[in-house]
Amino acid sequence: MTNRTETNVISQLLKRSKDRFEDYLENEVYPFFKKESAPELADAMEYSLRAGGKRLRPILTFASFGRIDNNSLSIGAALEFVHTYSLIHDDLPSMDDDDFRRGKPSLHKQFSEATAILAGDALQAYAFDWLTQIESSDKNLHKDLVRVLAKGAGAAGMVSGQMYDLLLERNPSSLTGTKEELLSKTHKLKTGALIQASFLMGNRLREDYREREKTISEYGAKLGLLFQITDDILDIEGTKEDLGKTPGKDGKSGKITYPSLYGMETCKQMVSDLVSELEELGTDLDTSSKAEVSEFPEFFQSLPSNIGKRKN
Ligand code: IPE
Ligand code: IPE
Ligand code: MG
Ligand code: MG
Ligand code: MG
Repeated sequence: MTNRTETNVISQLLKRSKDRFEDYLENEVYPFFKKESAPELADAMEYSLRAGGKRLRPILTFASFGRIDNNSLSIGAALEFVHTYSLIHDDLPSMDDDDFRRGKPSLHKQFSEATAILAGDALQAYAFDWLTQIESSDKNLHKDLVRVLAKGAGAAGMVSGQMYDLLLERNPSSLTGTKEELLSKTHKLKTGALIQASFLMGNRLREDYREREKTISEYGAKLGLLFQITDDILDIEGTKEDLGKTPGKDGKSGKITYPSLYGMETCKQMVSDLVSELEELGTDLDTSSKAEVSEFPEFFQSLPSNIGKRKN
């Protein structure tokens, strides 16, 4: 487990990166949305993005690249657009039926269900549009980034995870496999896939991306699972104020989650085991990133315990 100094370092890195990203949204994203969208659509996209959020996925991209520059900011925006669209749709009455998100009424509550669907659709398309802003002489870069994002976001990743999530809740007999296998698969896909893509996309900007790809991919998949297990725990133990969303929803809707399947004690042991495994992998990533001076020292070793202990 990390000590107090490391805790401060990671908190500062997260805060500084989040601030840079908020400035980027303010200056490069919201004004652009207004320029070309139907009025209610631009307002709806901005409402959900501006409501807040930890901006974790962009930050993971910055850290795996090692720097915040225009290219990593464009990738970060693409990821935050996909993630925000996934939350907008996740909250819809036909999905999790959640009235509160990022400390505000969900988009379908504030605007309408139809606007929420359309704002999600538009954000997804913008994600791919934003990747075209990336400048590089590497002629395979755009193709690789599009592919990683599409796989993480779509039927190979997040969207299938959401489908499994709903089937596990509503029609489990349509699925084959044990509950344990199905739940782990669901979490890896619905949350892990986009988190893994965030690491891989940042890494792809590096010249030495091939050497780090295998470890970063494994680290991303594990961190994604850790992130969703802690999300399940927070649904039980978190407060509405900290979370900015309604706690207790999973229990009410009868979702199978890590705590409901394994019990809270085992679940917390799983968190602690994953944190240790990630810290070990992180050591390699931090060491190899020193080849090029990284703005994110000790990031990979200190992130896991930060996520394991998160309150929101
Ligand atoms: C919430 O994601 C949904 C999950 C994938 C668990 P975050 O906890 O990253 O939500 P924001 O972006 O901070 O609102
Ligand atoms: C959502 O999982 C994962 C997504 C792809 C949006 P949850 O349904 O558990 O996320 P919250 O708890 O509503 O944020
Ligand atoms: Mg859900
Ligand atoms: Mg939900
Ligand atoms: Mg949840």
